[in-house]
Amino acid sequence: MRLCVNIDHIATLREARGGNEPDPLTAAHLCELAGAEGIVCHLREDRRHINDRDLRLLRETVKTKLDLEMAAIDEILGICIETLPDLATFVPERRQERTTESGLDVIRNASRIAEAVARLHEHDIEVSLFVDPLEEQIEAAAEVGADIVELHTGDFAAARSQEELIVQVQKLRAAAACARSLDLGVNAGHGLNYLNIRYLHDIPEIEEVSIGHAIIARAVFVGLEKAVSDMVRLAAGKS
Ligand code: PXP
Repeated sequence: MRLCVNIDHIATLREARGGNEPDPLTAAHLCELAGAEGIVCHLREDRRHINDRDLRLLRETVKTKLDLEMAAIDEILGICIETLPDLATFVPERRQERTTESGLDVIRNASRIAEAVARLHEHDIEVSLFVDPLEEQIEAAAEVGADIVELHTGDFAAARSQEELIVQVQKLRAAAACARSLDLGVNAGHGLNYLNIRYLHDIPEIEEVSIGHAIIARAVFVGLEKAVSDMVRLAAGKS
């Protein structure tokens, strides 16, 4: 699996003091030097971490692949079209949440999402939908024209027993097979870490993982390059 690193937490730390350190651009470049195959950032409506300038400069300087996480709302769709990321990942967004808490309800919001997907496709931007590992949501993702689904691994990451873990891996496996059968690309993310990532190797359809918290948390102690290169190796199935 390819590793894409979410650098929102670097910007969160910067915003804690309101200055310009640490710089998410420096983080993005170190992640790439350490072997990450993509950089992910979430431009939130409330700009609580990544801001418009970060996004613009990331677009200019990221050499691998830039994945913009975003709510499918008018303002952000406009910014996405100006920025032209390599991938736009639609996520649900609530102001009160600490991080993205669930997958998109593609079924309920089908016409709005279909319109947003079509708008980005007009500008050759690929679109991924962050969904819970449920076949009906994945079928809806295919119907609205998405290119990729990112399977929400939050419940898998929260599993507290071996039995629960097995159940969650089976859900992810079925969802990944369903997505592939519908010609969708398959990514995964949320709550993935240095211990649980190995279980995803049982699901060959998953091509890419998006990881933020675990990598940045480890980087505090071992440095960003080591934290990223260790995860690049684990994602690739090496110990
Ligand atoms: N994928 C999506 C769609 C997310 O919203 C997030 C959180 O920003 C992640 C992946 C990364 O999750 P984590 O920080 O738990 O690795």
